[in-house]
Amino acid sequence: MIISGKELAASLKGEMAAQVATFGERYGRVPHLAVVLVGEDPGSVSYVKGKAKASAEVGIRNTTIRRPDTITESELLALIAELNADDGVDGILVQLPLPKHIDSARIIAAIDCSKDVDGFHPLNVAALWQKQPCVLPCTPKGIIKMLKAAGVTISGKRAVVIGRSNIVGLPVAKLLLDENATVTIAHSRTADLAAVASQAEILVVAIGRPRFVTADMVADGAVVIDVGVNRDPESGKLCGDVDFAAVEGKASVITPVPGGVGPMTICCLMENTIECFLRKMER
Ligand code: GUN
Repeated sequence: MIISGKELAASLKGEMAAQVATFGERYGRVPHLAVVLVGEDPGSVSYVKGKAKASAEVGIRNTTIRRPDTITESELLALIAELNADDGVDGILVQLPLPKHIDSARIIAAIDCSKDVDGFHPLNVAALWQKQPCVLPCTPKGIIKMLKAAGVTISGKRAVVIGRSNIVGLPVAKLLLDENATVTIAHSRTADLAAVASQAEILVVAIGRPRFVTADMVADGAVVIDVGVNRDPESGKLCGDVDFAAVEGKASVITPVPGGVGPMTICCLMENTIECFLRKMER
């Protein structure tokens, strides 16, 4: 079975649009997401456009703020402070990666954690690891939603996450653990990665290398979630971290790239924006 993140996201966005349509009357305005894009990285430009498009579909107000990659760290911090202070802004997202001369951790920590729709602020990360209420990071949240929508039982399963980033690997491992999976985090330095991966009943791949996971690394009947967004070095087309053509026949459930995890990430960003808005309105 191929899980269409695109279809699931479309249906969830439809539900959110109906909900947001009631906000004007109830709260006097709709949620407002501010997206900060520094520089011209083509991947980031395209992601930010996707976020603006989804916002429009759901009825969320989206302001995309573009700054040149020559912006200084203090200028960017001043912009964040402005957005933090703006009562009309409910969510703030700074598109990553940032240019090398800017300390991303410092920027993320400067975002008001009640507007941190990415769930990247240290207070949100700490809350996640202590099972306290928090904004969940979008990609991990989307992955759990996809697994549940596909009817996959997570509890008691052996889950292997390949990748240990703050954005995906670590938080998705924690969410799988919270669903009572037995979780292994593997990475580029894992000895005999193929042996580790092929033990997985649920395999989540977020290593950022085109078609890294081959059929020999996947157990028969495994559930395979591909978080990769890469350019195929030969064709230039988008491809995942999993060799889809080779693995599809072995997996019981698999996500495609594009149209898998990506749309769910954006969908969860919309959900997080609504959550931050409602928490503010109901304070
Ligand atoms: N760059 C890649 N993924 C993400 C994400 O989920 N949020 C932000 N802000 N930047 C990213």
